[in-house]
Amino acid sequence: MLSLSTLAAAGLLLLGLAPQVSADPIFVGYYPTWKAKEMKTVDLKKYTHVNIAFAAPLESGAIVLDKSFDMASAVKQIHDAGAKALLSIGGWSGSQNISYVVSNPSSGSRMMNDLFGLIEKHSLDGVDIDWEHPGRQGAPQNRYDAAHDTPNFLEYLGTLRAQIDAKFKKNRKLVTLAVATQPFYVDGSPAKDVSKFAKLVDYAHLMLYDMNGPWGSTTGPNAPLDPGHCANNKESFSAAIDAWICAGWPPGQLTAGFAFYGRAMAATLDMSQKSSCQYQDKTKEAIKGDVDDTVTPYSGMWQWKHLRGQGILTTTNTTDRAWKRYWDTTTTTPWLFNNSPNNLTYISYDDTFSILLKVLHASSRGLAGAMVWSADMDYRNELIDAQRQRQQRCHGGGGGYVTNDGPKPSSSAPAGGSSPGAVTTDGGESGGGGGSSSACTNGVLYTCDKPGVEPGYTVCLYGRPANMQCSAGTVCIAGGSSLSYGYGKGS
Ligand SMILES: *[C@@H]1O[C@H](CO)[C@@H](O)[C@H](O)[C@H]1NC(C)=O
Ligand SMILES: *[C@@H]1O[C@H](CO)[C@@H](O)[C@H](O)[C@H]1NC(C)=O
Ligand SMILES: *[C@@H]1O[C@H](CO)[C@@H](O)[C@H](O)[C@H]1NC(C)=O
Repeated sequence: MLSLSTLAAAGLLLLGLAPQVSADPIFVGYYPTWKAKEMKTVDLKKYTHVNIAFAAPLESGAIVLDKSFDMASAVKQIHDAGAKALLSIGGWSGSQNISYVVSNPSSGSRMMNDLFGLIEKHSLDGVDIDWEHPGRQGAPQNRYDAAHDTPNFLEYLGTLRAQIDAKFKKNRKLVTLAVATQPFYVDGSPAKDVSKFAKLVDYAHLMLYDMNGPWGSTTGPNAPLDPGHCANNKESFSAAIDAWICAGWPPGQLTAGFAFYGRAMAATLDMSQKSSCQYQDKTKEAIKGDVDDTVTPYSGMWQWKHLRGQGILTTTNTTDRAWKRYWDTTTTTPWLFNNSPNNLTYISYDDTFSILLKVLHASSRGLAGAMVWSADMDYRNELIDAQRQRQQRCHGGGGGYVTNDGPKPSSSAPAGGSSPGAVTTDGGESGGGGGSSSACTNGVLYTCDKPGVEPGYTVCLYGRPANMQCSAGTVCIAGGSSLSYGYGKGS
């Protein structure tokens, strides 16, 4: 395991890297085949890539598709919206045989042939492999091989890249991966160097969620930007991005994954009594989430569209009377607690504001864009628009999700492992490259240096002003030079 102090040290080194600015940002939406009906109403123009999920291989390598799914009509919908359509292999319950398939030459080549056949038949733009997870158990039924999965996967991807490029010479196909918060495991710990993988695939989509949930021993955010100061679990959005970059994956080939759902858990006490800490005692009880959470044991999932549609959230940041919304300045995530006596229901989720802060962080790290699980869970485009908002601050050509002159990993990475991390207002950190040393509130996000003329603007990131740049050839948009959400402070 990489220690946090190693990550912090490596994070400092990253300051010297020039971010990639060449391409437009990408927005990758997963399209669950069992949600085809809901997907019909999703505005896929908001996405650049849509991954149809999932197909799974048998041991033989034969790819099995959901028979009731109309692939042709889905691909048409995606292409009509101007997005690329990929087929995603695996997923949580479809990864059972991948370890075997990539280790066995005849199964491996069968899977490749089946894939190529599907790409041809449906005019797909590529394949996404969501193996959960190389070198680790994942779902209980999965086979895995702690020593060989990761090297086998590398070898398999080498063959896949060569053959897919040879077969589709005139119309290059994409190969992408969905990956966990830590690089692929070898012998029980994350690989230190995954740079060879990045040379074979186009993008890795980081699944930066499901970090806390009903399965854990405490309540806690589904997707904290930074680890909670009071948490045992130090997994976070920022630590996961650092882990992949430190293991040699170029940031311009990574996307930051966002969950368009939250999770309900059953606390044991009134959490409002200690609202500065989101990690509190909970029961093991699996409580029901939204109207779609009908199968027991319940998942506790609350899709954004149901948090909004069922009226728990009356706007993106106001609640029905039965609930109170809290803002956690450490993990920079909102959470809800039920007001009724003895109800004790806690819901962690992301909203437009927490997404914007994560997007700013991801762009400061030079990532290529965002990934979403899943596109059907949005409400009137609120969350995908929050992703794209960052992009909309810049105008005139290439765009780019990226570029900065150094928002301070020095203040983002917890120094000793026990320090609070994210928002520091105690003046203990120096500003780092470009920013002044004065503290600011994350609620005030944006000032444009010379709207319509210059690319530079300022955001408040981790409690410090950070100088950002629109990418090459673009300028900061005129008008609306400040974007104040008014709730950067803790409740
Ligand atoms: C794995 O392969 C076995 C044997 O071919 C098959 O029965 C099983 O359904 C496959 N698992 C998945 C998740 O497709
Ligand atoms: C808590 O309140 C919610 C909504 O008000 C309700 O659906 C849920 O059943 C309640 N839970 C308990 C344990 O009372
Ligand atoms: C909710 O967001 C709006 C618009 O961004 C803002 O004006 C308002 O102050 C926020 N309300 C709360 C309770 O945070």
